[in-house]
Amino acid sequence: MFPVSISGLKDSVKVLSVFTLHEAKVTSKIETSGAQAQIEPKFFLTFAGVFWRLPNRNPTRFIPIMQKIDVILGLQWGDEGKGKIVDYLANDYDIVARFQGGPNAGHTLKFGGKKYVLHTVPSGIFRENLINLIGNGVVLDPVVFERELRGLEQSGVAFHKRLLVSRKAHLILPTHRWLDAASEAHKGKSKIGSTLKGIGPTYMDKTGRNGLRVGDIQAANFREQYEALKTKHLELLKIYPEVSFDLAGAEAAWFSSLDTLRSLPFVDSEYYINDALADGKRILAEGAQGAMLDIDFGTYPFVTSSNTITAGVCTGLGVAPQRIGRVIGITKAYCTRVGGGPFPTELDNEIGERLRQEGQEFGSTTGRPRRCGWIDLPQLLYTILINGVTEICMTKIDVLNVFDEIAAATHYRIDGQQQHTLPYDLCNVEIEPVLRSYTGWQCSLDAVRSFDELPDAARNFLTDLEIYLGVPVKMISTGPEREKLIVR
Ligand code: GDP
Ligand code: IMO
Ligand code: MG
Repeated sequence: MFPVSISGLKDSVKVLSVFTLHEAKVTSKIETSGAQAQIEPKFFLTFAGVFWRLPNRNPTRFIPIMQKIDVILGLQWGDEGKGKIVDYLANDYDIVARFQGGPNAGHTLKFGGKKYVLHTVPSGIFRENLINLIGNGVVLDPVVFERELRGLEQSGVAFHKRLLVSRKAHLILPTHRWLDAASEAHKGKSKIGSTLKGIGPTYMDKTGRNGLRVGDIQAANFREQYEALKTKHLELLKIYPEVSFDLAGAEAAWFSSLDTLRSLPFVDSEYYINDALADGKRILAEGAQGAMLDIDFGTYPFVTSSNTITAGVCTGLGVAPQRIGRVIGITKAYCTRVGGGPFPTELDNEIGERLRQEGQEFGSTTGRPRRCGWIDLPQLLYTILINGVTEICMTKIDVLNVFDEIAAATHYRIDGQQQHTLPYDLCNVEIEPVLRSYTGWQCSLDAVRSFDELPDAARNFLTDLEIYLGVPVKMISTGPEREKLIVR
């Protein structure tokens, strides 16, 4: 503890706050009295947080000003097992917040002999007392949302007051779904393979500055705003091939579902999150999709329409970059993708089929079979880089139990040259993955509870990947159930 004073503060203001330096793990107390202080630049930045809070807050309470927000996101093309890991870790947090995407996501949780699939609701909802926030970066379809909430009610989950929605989240209209279907029909063979939940058209309206937001449903002229946007959509639909769509039915369901949405607390999530951090609350940001589906850094145009990467946490919740703490990147022990687009390590053969059957690789949202292949290390190096991943969680390692030999791509061979970086245009480049093979362990991992109890072959595989990727593998998932997780 050391006393510090800052010029510019009123003499009458006395502050006693907790001063936490994240990296150095130093905790001290600061006292201001009005005189000049000598503070190192790093300290000063931190101190500014205290100063900012002074006018409106009880000046004598303790404020842990370096509280950070942790992030969980997918490092591949989605479906890495984010839901399971968020649900497991949620116990250590006060708030779980979704920051992007919409009902294109399907996050599966398994516990107590039951399986739950969440699309819009954050995966912390099953943990009692935990707040779940749908951030401004999310696009929300009130009909899908209502269905999901009914399901939770039937499972006895009390979510009222624990499930908050940002006023700035954008609404998916029925005509957004119609446009999604028409746009995909127009693309024909080169279609994206969208989940057809209206994601692309809704984000287009957001960036095109035409969208409707959750907060708008409280406006007196909301119906007028809706009709104006719908009219635009109907005009736009004329340029696409005809796709059948029951607009009247979809509209009736949509308006009726708004009542359920209205029954939840709306928040200005940027204030909510920052206040919670200032109050020392522990927050976990839950990603949807995966980094290779990111609108900027994914396999464009075969991507989704949001920033699925760590940067998306800042824009999708309203937190500053220096507030980001741990970044837990999730990867399967192999690789899958659903929908169109490049997939360098895809196995369009009996090995791929075996991975699909063993891993039950069928979409949680659409039921489509997922494309399967070996784990792709150049791809992971890329997404680790872009996300600032601090630790890896590897899921579905048990799916490899049956293989006598497994493999990982260490490089790409393009035009005879070996490289470990991703080319600009994965879509139009012939990539031959250079594979390193590993001996399989060929036994069940059901009884394994620690890293040391893993068979030698599995430890060798994990250690080798860890060295290649330069990031520790801190968690290893050995089954879909909540408790099937090795934490190192
Ligand atoms: P998310 O979208 O990233 O949450 O992942 P999904 O829920 O779409 O897909 C992951 C699937 O794998 C789900 O069916 C999970 O129940 C299942 N799963 C998660 N972890 C494991 C694991 O370690 N082993 C096995 N066999 N299945 C897992
Ligand atoms: P979670 O959160 C896997 C894929 C679609 C399609 C592309 C664009 O469960 O990991 P969109 O509906 O966004 O227009 O589809 O992205 N996709 C996903 N693939 N997991 C997801 O979410 C996905 N969300 C979208 O299959 O190729
Ligand atoms: Mg999924």
